[in-house]
Amino acid sequence: TRAHLTLHPAFRVGDVDRRLFGGFVEHLGRHIYDGIHEPGHPTAGPDGFRRDVIELVKELGVTAIRYPGGNFVSAYRWEDGVGPVAERPRRLDLAWHSTETNLVGLHEFQEWLDLVGSELMLAVNLGTRGLQEALELVEYANVPSGTARADRRRANGREEPFGVRMWCLGNEMDGPWQVGHRDAGDYGKLASQVAKAMRLVDNRLQLVVCGSSGRGMPTFGSWERTVLEHTYDDVDYISCHAYYQETDGDLASFLASGVDMDAFIDEVVATADHVRAVKRSGKRIQISFDEWNVWYMSRWNAQEGTHTIDDWPVAPRLLEDVYSVADAVTVGGLLISLLNHADRVTSASLAQLVNVIAPIMTEPGGPAWRQTTFFPFSLTSKAARGTALAVTLDAGTVTTARYGEVPVVAAAATTDGGTVQLFLQNRDTTAPTTVTVDLRAFAGLTSASATGIWDDDPYAVNSLTEPDRVAPRTNDTARLDDGVLTVTLPPVSWTTVAVA
Ligand code: AHR
Repeated sequence: TRAHLTLHPAFRVGDVDRRLFGGFVEHLGRHIYDGIHEPGHPTAGPDGFRRDVIELVKELGVTAIRYPGGNFVSAYRWEDGVGPVAERPRRLDLAWHSTETNLVGLHEFQEWLDLVGSELMLAVNLGTRGLQEALELVEYANVPSGTARADRRRANGREEPFGVRMWCLGNEMDGPWQVGHRDAGDYGKLASQVAKAMRLVDNRLQLVVCGSSGRGMPTFGSWERTVLEHTYDDVDYISCHAYYQETDGDLASFLASGVDMDAFIDEVVATADHVRAVKRSGKRIQISFDEWNVWYMSRWNAQEGTHTIDDWPVAPRLLEDVYSVADAVTVGGLLISLLNHADRVTSASLAQLVNVIAPIMTEPGGPAWRQTTFFPFSLTSKAARGTALAVTLDAGTVTTARYGEVPVVAAAATTDGGTVQLFLQNRDTTAPTTVTVDLRAFAGLTSASATGIWDDDPYAVNSLTEPDRVAPRTNDTARLDDGVLTVTLPPVSWTTVAVA
């Protein structure tokens, strides 16, 4: 199969916001406890944070990190996680039927972020709580000094404010599983009031209102419309969440998950712009795609509902998906979709980061390692700089059960002025695809080098016993002749090409 791309420096989608490469850390399973925080681990500092994990998180290149949930936040009391650690209460975590020890809270997490070099993106609880508690948290976090809560923060050891800019107004409030789930009208009214009041405390805030927790939700579309009718003037972003998995051995549809993500984004943009038109507003709402990944949710659903009243474990092994090469290629395809919408998707969070549907895994007392999905993320975060280019793609197709005929190749491109970076996914499950890219409109390009993820076994994984089984490989077919790049992509592969 063949595919041809044409790129021109004048045809652009938009600047790539660094927040597109965000992450997500939830109090869930072994994400925090026995994940990033393991006092006594040989690499842990006096703060209990594992340095080997910190190094991998840095290498991954995550920018803003959303915290503390997720479903967890909808029954969380942020005050439980501040003040002297020995006095912190143990609480029921209703979302994941676990015990929350509160050994890590806002201060500790910010200290960890300072070590990692990432920005904090905070979610408030709009499930069991509301306006008052959200206001108290903004005051605690962002007011310099001289008020009760600001001074309590200082007494708790943090002289300078946290200065959190980006805030999520609850989590997945459209989902019946969410503690405190509401309908769109009730949530929209609440979110509008909370947003307005939070801005009275700090007018620099950037606010994310909950969109649908999936494109397949029965309320998708009308939820966004109703919520934005209430909140349009009060918020900056609406969230999207999407998880994909291979089902019934249908690898072709799974690899094409980016087709679904493209449609999801286009539909949310259309809905937001419809509300904009109705309101005669000059403002455009952006998308915060603040949960996305491959997640074998069917495995989790099979486990659910098995807990009893006397069974509230601390840091159980939950949602510990082990990712294959095919999963990594799909993640690469989803990143391509995000880049192709860089004008409207200006924040995104890979869900999640460590142990829980994560690119990084750890063993208590043992090593930390990179899952296959680590690589497309880290390579894209590193290479996708500057501006996303509009890609004109002329490609053969593959047939998928779920999406019909789809282009055999998914492609995105960025430029920082001097160089061009390509991101390519071959969705063909059995055959290579040769891609040509017309780059003649770019001056001074002389070389091309390609790196990617593929394997004779698309189901190969990294594991505790074989942590380096899958790693990026050099694709030595890349050639640049008279401004035209040629590269051959193996079947089921994701590749990035640097043209300089
Ligand atoms: O990421 C796991 C869960 O998925 C999050 O807690 C929730 O927001 C979503 O349903």
